[in-house]
Amino acid sequence: MESSFNLKGKIAIVTGATRGIGWSCAKVLAKNGMTVIINGVSDNNMLNQRVDELKELYGVESEGYLFDVSDSNAVKDCYNNIFKKYKRLDVLVNNAGIMIDALIPMISNEMLDKILDVNIKGAIYNLQYASRLMGRNKSGSIINISSIIGRFGNEGQTVYSASKAALIGITMSAAKELAPQNIRVNAVAPGIIQTDLIKNYAADKTMKLRDSIKMKRIGTPEDISNTVLFLSSSLSEYVTGQVIGVDGGMLI
Ligand SMILES: NC(=O)c1ccc[n+]([C@@H]2O[C@H](COP(=O)([O-])OP(=O)(O)OC[C@H]3O[C@@H](n4cnc5c(N)ncnc54)[C@H](OP(=O)(O)O)[C@@H]3O)[C@@H](O)[C@H]2O)c1
Repeated sequence: MESSFNLKGKIAIVTGATRGIGWSCAKVLAKNGMTVIINGVSDNNMLNQRVDELKELYGVESEGYLFDVSDSNAVKDCYNNIFKKYKRLDVLVNNAGIMIDALIPMISNEMLDKILDVNIKGAIYNLQYASRLMGRNKSGSIINISSIIGRFGNEGQTVYSASKAALIGITMSAAKELAPQNIRVNAVAPGIIQTDLIKNYAADKTMKLRDSIKMKRIGTPEDISNTVLFLSSSLSEYVTGQVIGVDGGMLI
Protein backbone atom coordinates (compact mmCIF):
# COMPACT_ATOMS: atom_id res chain seq x y z
CA MET A 1 0.00 0.00 0.00
CA GLU A 2 1.28 3.49 -0.90
CA SER A 3 2.26 5.51 2.21
CA SER A 4 -0.03 8.48 2.88
CA PHE A 5 3.04 10.69 3.25
CA ASN A 6 3.51 10.74 -0.57
CA LEU A 7 7.29 10.96 -0.38
CA LYS A 8 8.30 8.00 -2.52
CA GLY A 9 10.86 8.94 -5.18
CA LYS A 10 11.28 12.48 -3.86
CA ILE A 11 14.62 14.02 -2.87
CA ALA A 12 15.65 15.29 0.57
CA ILE A 13 18.77 16.79 2.03
CA VAL A 14 19.42 16.64 5.77
CA THR A 15 22.34 18.64 7.14
CA GLY A 16 24.18 17.32 10.19
CA ALA A 17 22.84 13.84 9.59
CA THR A 18 25.65 11.59 10.80
CA ARG A 19 24.32 11.50 14.36
CA GLY A 20 21.46 12.45 16.66
CA ILE A 21 18.37 14.22 15.35
CA GLY A 22 19.66 14.55 11.77
CA TRP A 23 20.39 10.85 11.47
CA SER A 24 16.93 10.02 12.77
CA CYS A 25 15.40 12.40 10.18
CA ALA A 26 17.45 10.78 7.40
CA LYS A 27 16.21 7.32 8.42
CA VAL A 28 12.53 8.23 8.64
CA LEU A 29 12.58 9.99 5.25
CA ALA A 30 14.42 7.05 3.63
CA LYS A 31 11.97 4.63 5.23
CA ASN A 32 9.21 6.51 3.44
CA GLY A 33 10.92 6.07 0.08
CA MET A 34 12.88 9.30 -0.31
CA THR A 35 16.33 9.60 -1.82
CA VAL A 36 18.24 11.15 1.08
CA ILE A 37 21.36 13.26 0.76
CA ILE A 38 23.15 13.57 4.06
CA ASN A 39 25.87 15.87 5.33
CA GLY A 40 28.37 15.85 8.18
CA VAL A 41 31.50 17.84 8.93
CA SER A 42 34.06 15.80 10.81
CA ASP A 43 34.12 12.12 9.88
CA ASN A 44 34.03 10.89 6.29
CA ASN A 45 34.05 7.21 7.30
CA MET A 46 31.01 7.71 9.48
CA LEU A 47 29.27 9.63 6.70
CA ASN A 48 29.90 6.83 4.18
CA GLN A 49 28.77 4.24 6.68
CA ARG A 50 25.51 6.13 7.19
CA VAL A 51 24.95 6.29 3.42
CA ASP A 52 25.43 2.51 3.20
CA GLU A 53 23.04 1.97 6.10
CA LEU A 54 20.29 4.01 4.41
CA LYS A 55 20.73 2.08 1.16
CA GLU A 56 20.75 -1.31 2.87
CA LEU A 57 17.98 -0.68 5.40
CA TYR A 58 15.51 1.07 3.10
CA GLY A 59 16.57 0.25 -0.47
CA VAL A 60 16.76 3.92 -1.45
CA GLU A 61 19.41 6.04 -3.12
CA SER A 62 21.62 8.04 -0.80
CA GLU A 63 24.73 10.21 -1.01
CA GLY A 64 26.93 11.85 1.58
CA TYR A 65 28.66 15.24 1.38
CA LEU A 66 31.29 16.19 3.93
CA PHE A 67 31.38 19.95 4.40
CA ASP A 68 30.97 22.70 6.96
CA VAL A 69 27.57 24.33 6.47
CA SER A 70 29.15 27.70 7.19
CA ASP A 71 31.33 27.33 4.05
CA SER A 72 29.14 28.93 1.39
CA ASN A 73 31.21 27.57 -1.53
CA ALA A 74 30.96 24.01 -0.25
CA VAL A 75 27.20 24.38 0.22
CA LYS A 76 26.91 25.71 -3.34
CA ASP A 77 28.91 22.77 -4.74
CA CYS A 78 26.65 20.30 -2.97
CA TYR A 79 23.47 21.82 -4.45
CA ASN A 80 25.07 22.05 -7.89
CA ASN A 81 25.68 18.31 -7.68
CA ILE A 82 22.12 17.67 -6.56
CA PHE A 83 20.85 19.69 -9.51
CA LYS A 84 23.10 17.86 -11.98
CA LYS A 85 22.07 14.45 -10.72
CA TYR A 86 18.41 14.78 -9.72
CA LYS A 87 17.24 18.08 -11.28
CA ARG A 88 15.01 18.68 -8.25
CA LEU A 89 14.83 18.95 -4.49
CA ASP A 90 11.72 18.41 -2.38
CA VAL A 91 12.80 18.67 1.26
CA LEU A 92 15.57 20.45 3.18
CA VAL A 93 16.03 19.67 6.86
CA ASN A 94 18.26 22.48 8.11
CA ASN A 95 19.49 20.56 11.14
CA ALA A 96 23.28 21.00 11.51
CA GLY A 97 23.97 22.98 14.64
CA ILE A 98 26.37 23.42 17.51
CA MET A 99 25.89 24.44 21.14
CA ILE A 100 28.60 26.08 23.23
CA ASP A 101 27.62 27.41 26.66
CA ALA A 102 29.14 30.47 28.34
CA LEU A 103 27.97 32.99 30.90
CA ILE A 104 27.77 36.51 29.46
CA PRO A 105 31.19 37.74 30.70
CA MET A 106 32.84 34.63 29.27
CA ILE A 107 31.52 34.92 25.71
CA SER A 108 34.55 35.14 23.39
CA ASN A 109 34.52 36.64 19.91
CA GLU A 110 35.68 33.30 18.53
CA MET A 111 32.77 31.43 20.11
CA LEU A 112 30.31 34.10 19.00
CA ASP A 113 31.51 33.86 15.39
CA LYS A 114 31.53 30.06 15.37
CA ILE A 115 27.97 29.63 16.67
CA LEU A 116 26.49 32.36 14.49
CA ASP A 117 28.38 31.08 11.42
CA VAL A 118 27.21 27.47 11.76
CA ASN A 119 23.74 27.93 13.21
CA ILE A 120 22.61 31.04 11.30
CA LYS A 121 24.76 31.53 8.19
CA GLY A 122 24.86 27.79 7.52
CA ALA A 123 21.07 27.61 7.64
CA ILE A 124 20.69 30.63 5.35
CA TYR A 125 23.14 29.27 2.75
CA ASN A 126 21.21 26.01 2.61
CA LEU A 127 17.89 27.86 2.47
CA GLN A 128 19.15 29.94 -0.47
CA TYR A 129 20.35 27.06 -2.63
CA ALA A 130 17.54 24.71 -1.66
CA SER A 131 14.78 27.23 -2.40
CA ARG A 132 16.34 28.00 -5.77
CA LEU A 133 16.11 24.33 -6.71
CA MET A 134 12.62 23.91 -5.24
CA GLY A 135 11.42 26.98 -7.12
CA ARG A 136 12.03 25.19 -10.42
CA ASN A 137 9.22 22.74 -9.59
CA LYS A 138 7.12 25.18 -7.60
CA SER A 139 7.06 22.93 -4.58
CA GLY A 140 9.10 22.08 -1.52
CA SER A 141 9.30 21.93 2.24
CA ILE A 142 12.05 23.49 4.33
CA ILE A 143 12.28 22.55 8.00
CA ASN A 144 14.57 24.53 10.29
CA ILE A 145 15.57 22.85 13.54
CA SER A 146 15.41 25.62 16.12
CA SER A 147 15.19 24.99 19.89
CA ILE A 148 13.07 25.67 22.93
CA ILE A 149 16.05 27.83 24.01
CA GLY A 150 15.44 30.07 20.98
CA ARG A 151 11.92 30.77 22.22
CA PHE A 152 12.42 31.05 25.97
CA GLY A 153 16.19 31.48 26.57
CA ASN A 154 18.40 29.90 29.22
CA GLU A 155 21.18 30.99 31.56
CA GLY A 156 24.60 30.49 29.97
CA GLN A 157 23.11 30.17 26.50
CA THR A 158 22.82 33.77 25.28
CA VAL A 159 24.64 33.10 22.02
CA TYR A 160 23.05 29.72 21.32
CA SER A 161 19.58 31.10 22.06
CA ALA A 162 20.26 34.08 19.78
CA SER A 163 21.14 31.70 16.96
CA LYS A 164 18.06 29.56 17.51
CA ALA A 165 15.77 32.60 17.80
CA ALA A 166 17.26 33.80 14.51
CA LEU A 167 16.12 30.56 12.90
CA ILE A 168 12.56 31.41 13.92
CA GLY A 169 12.85 34.83 12.26
CA ILE A 170 14.35 33.20 9.19
CA THR A 171 11.44 30.73 9.12
CA MET A 172 8.79 33.50 9.28
CA SER A 173 10.41 35.68 6.62
CA ALA A 174 11.23 32.84 4.25
CA ALA A 175 7.73 31.38 4.65
CA LYS A 176 6.24 34.70 3.52
CA GLU A 177 8.65 35.12 0.63
CA LEU A 178 8.48 31.57 -0.67
CA ALA A 179 4.76 30.78 -0.24
CA PRO A 180 3.91 32.10 -3.73
CA GLN A 181 6.27 29.44 -5.11
CA ASN A 182 4.47 26.78 -3.05
CA ILE A 183 7.56 26.31 -0.88
CA ARG A 184 6.65 25.85 2.77
CA VAL A 185 9.02 26.85 5.56
CA ASN A 186 8.49 25.71 9.14
CA ALA A 187 10.57 25.34 12.28
CA VAL A 188 10.69 22.59 14.85
CA ALA A 189 11.71 23.64 18.35
CA PRO A 190 12.91 20.57 20.26
CA GLY A 191 13.08 20.51 24.03
CA ILE A 192 15.76 18.31 25.63
CA ILE A 193 16.62 15.43 23.32
CA GLN A 194 18.96 12.56 24.13
CA THR A 195 21.88 13.03 21.70
CA ASP A 196 25.61 13.74 21.83
CA LEU A 197 24.77 17.45 22.11
CA ILE A 198 23.78 16.98 25.75
CA LYS A 199 26.04 14.05 26.60
CA ASN A 200 28.30 16.19 28.78
CA TYR A 201 25.47 17.38 31.01
CA ALA A 202 26.06 16.22 34.60
CA ALA A 203 23.61 13.53 35.79
CA ASP A 204 22.01 15.89 38.34
CA LYS A 205 21.43 18.53 35.65
CA THR A 206 19.79 15.93 33.39
CA MET A 207 17.59 14.76 36.30
CA LYS A 208 16.57 18.34 37.05
CA LEU A 209 15.76 18.95 33.41
CA ARG A 210 13.74 15.75 33.23
CA ASP A 211 11.73 16.79 36.28
CA SER A 212 10.89 20.09 34.58
CA ILE A 213 9.31 18.24 31.66
CA LYS A 214 5.58 17.68 32.12
CA MET A 215 5.77 14.29 30.39
CA LYS A 216 8.64 13.30 32.72
CA ARG A 217 11.03 12.03 30.10
CA ILE A 218 13.86 13.35 27.96
CA GLY A 219 12.89 13.32 24.28
CA THR A 220 14.28 10.95 21.67
CA PRO A 221 15.54 11.86 18.19
CA GLU A 222 12.49 10.00 16.85
CA ASP A 223 10.18 12.45 18.66
CA ILE A 224 11.68 15.14 16.44
CA SER A 225 12.02 13.18 13.21
CA ASN A 226 8.34 12.13 13.30
CA THR A 227 7.38 15.82 13.30
CA VAL A 228 9.87 16.42 10.50
CA LEU A 229 8.22 13.60 8.54
CA PHE A 230 4.82 15.28 8.92
CA LEU A 231 6.22 18.65 7.80
CA SER A 232 8.00 17.01 4.86
CA SER A 233 4.87 15.30 3.64
CA SER A 234 1.70 16.28 1.82
CA LEU A 235 -0.19 15.82 5.12
CA SER A 236 1.10 19.30 6.03
CA GLU A 237 0.64 20.89 2.61
CA TYR A 238 -1.27 23.89 4.05
CA VAL A 239 1.14 24.46 6.97
CA THR A 240 3.77 27.18 6.65
CA GLY A 241 5.48 29.77 8.86
CA GLN A 242 4.90 27.73 12.01
CA VAL A 243 7.15 26.86 14.94
CA ILE A 244 6.22 23.48 16.35
CA GLY A 245 7.47 22.82 19.87
CA VAL A 246 8.34 19.17 20.49
CA ASP A 247 9.30 19.22 24.14
CA GLY A 248 7.05 16.99 26.24
CA GLY A 249 5.21 20.06 27.52
CA MET A 250 8.29 21.60 29.12
CA LEU A 251 6.86 25.07 29.27
CA ILE A 252 3.10 24.66 29.52
N1 LIG B 1 19.75 17.56 21.47
C1 LIG B 1 18.98 18.53 21.94
O1 LIG B 1 18.59 18.53 23.13
C2 LIG B 1 18.52 19.65 21.04
C3 LIG B 1 17.53 20.51 21.51
C4 LIG B 1 17.10 21.55 20.73
C5 LIG B 1 17.63 21.73 19.47
N2 LIG B 1 18.60 20.90 19.00
C6 LIG B 1 19.14 21.17 17.68
O2 LIG B 1 19.02 20.02 16.87
C7 LIG B 1 20.07 19.98 15.91
C8 LIG B 1 20.77 18.62 15.95
O3 LIG B 1 21.25 18.45 17.26
P1 LIG B 1 21.73 17.04 17.84
O4 LIG B 1 21.36 17.04 19.26
O5 LIG B 1 21.31 15.94 16.95
O6 LIG B 1 23.31 17.27 17.74
P2 LIG B 1 24.54 16.23 17.64
O7 LIG B 1 24.14 14.90 18.15
O8 LIG B 1 25.68 16.95 18.27
O9 LIG B 1 24.79 16.09 16.06
C9 LIG B 1 25.18 17.22 15.34
C10 LIG B 1 25.25 16.91 13.87
O10 LIG B 1 25.54 18.13 13.18
C11 LIG B 1 26.73 17.96 12.42
N3 LIG B 1 27.45 19.22 12.37
C12 LIG B 1 27.94 19.93 13.40
N4 LIG B 1 28.53 21.05 12.95
C13 LIG B 1 28.42 21.03 11.60
C14 LIG B 1 28.84 21.89 10.57
N5 LIG B 1 29.52 23.02 10.83
N6 LIG B 1 28.58 21.55 9.28
C15 LIG B 1 27.90 20.42 9.00
N7 LIG B 1 27.48 19.56 9.94
C16 LIG B 1 27.73 19.86 11.23
C17 LIG B 1 27.49 16.83 13.09
O11 LIG B 1 28.37 16.23 12.14
P3 LIG B 1 29.71 15.39 12.59
O12 LIG B 1 29.21 14.07 13.11
O13 LIG B 1 30.48 15.27 11.34
O14 LIG B 1 30.37 16.21 13.66
C18 LIG B 1 26.34 15.91 13.51
O15 LIG B 1 25.91 15.14 12.41
C19 LIG B 1 20.99 21.14 16.23
O16 LIG B 1 20.70 22.23 15.39
C20 LIG B 1 20.63 21.49 17.68
O17 LIG B 1 20.88 22.84 17.99
C21 LIG B 1 19.07 19.85 19.76
